[in-house]
Amino acid sequence: MMAGKVDFTGVQSTMLVTLFLRALDAKDPHPVLGDRFAADAVDRIAYDWSKLDKPNMARNRFPVVLRATRFDEWTIDFLRRHPDATVLHLACGLDSRAFRLDLPAGVRWFDVDLPDVIALRRRLYQETDGYHMIAASVTDEAWLAEIPAGRPTLIIAEGLLMYLHEAEVRQLLRRLTDRFPSGELIFDSVLPWAAKMTHLLKKYLSRWYPYPAYWTAIRGGSDIERWDPRLRHRDNVAVMTAYQQIPNPGLRRFYRVSSRIGWFRDSLRIFRAEF
Ligand SMILES: C[S@@+](CC[C@H](N)C(=O)[O-])C[C@H]1O[C@@H](n2cnc3c(N)ncnc32)[C@H](O)[C@@H]1O
Repeated sequence: MMAGKVDFTGVQSTMLVTLFLRALDAKDPHPVLGDRFAADAVDRIAYDWSKLDKPNMARNRFPVVLRATRFDEWTIDFLRRHPDATVLHLACGLDSRAFRLDLPAGVRWFDVDLPDVIALRRRLYQETDGYHMIAASVTDEAWLAEIPAGRPTLIIAEGLLMYLHEAEVRQLLRRLTDRFPSGELIFDSVLPWAAKMTHLLKKYLSRWYPYPAYWTAIRGGSDIERWDPRLRHRDNVAVMTAYQQIPNPGLRRFYRVSSRIGWFRDSLRIFRAEF
């Protein structure tokens, strides 16, 4: 069944890009993530995908699929230790993590995104007893009351914090650690130079794609504790250090050589913090 026509602009449009890149990976004979839900969603959404279907997009899919793979691994790791956990998947877009992972039966999963994204998501996926969708901005407070507290909680924020202002990030994190007694936060972030570049290039890039600029960047794990003193930085990893998983030898070599350059390697990192 088709999910209808989509023409998002603004920050909502970014999830069509990540979805499309996961679908390209899934259609590759040697996928890294193999997200068949993404491939199916792209086939069901009436969007002008030719805007994204360019050779440079296909080459650049690896940061997105390697990032998603690492988020999946850290999600599974948390759920192995806490099979009765609550998972709060912020800015879920059309990501299928709740379906592509083999979740323990006791997990309660909440996917959260802006109302128009969740409206589209509801045309693709069904709620169940353990799986719910919440249409809200993460910068609002009211939606948090819908999430039961009391169990260990995994908070996932993939491709979100850079689009918020730092004051919004601090407020969000403090609200989350106030509401949930214990758990982990996993999120990705960029270095300050990468955020600055999005502002410098915005005028030029907006000719072909009005990509929203990044507002929040991270220098290192200590920034997390500065944002919210209840969070303790546990570890972090540069996405591109997983270049061995890239099936194409030429691109694997490119990312292997590039990942020796610190400022390039660290431009996209995934962090894990405890509370
Ligand atoms: C780059 S996409 C990432 C989507 C998904 N995590 C993925 O990897 O495919 C950014 C997402 O953040 C969502 N987003 C941005 N600001 C938000 C906000 N204030 N509240 C909820 N979602 C937001 C957008 O709607 C979009 O779905």
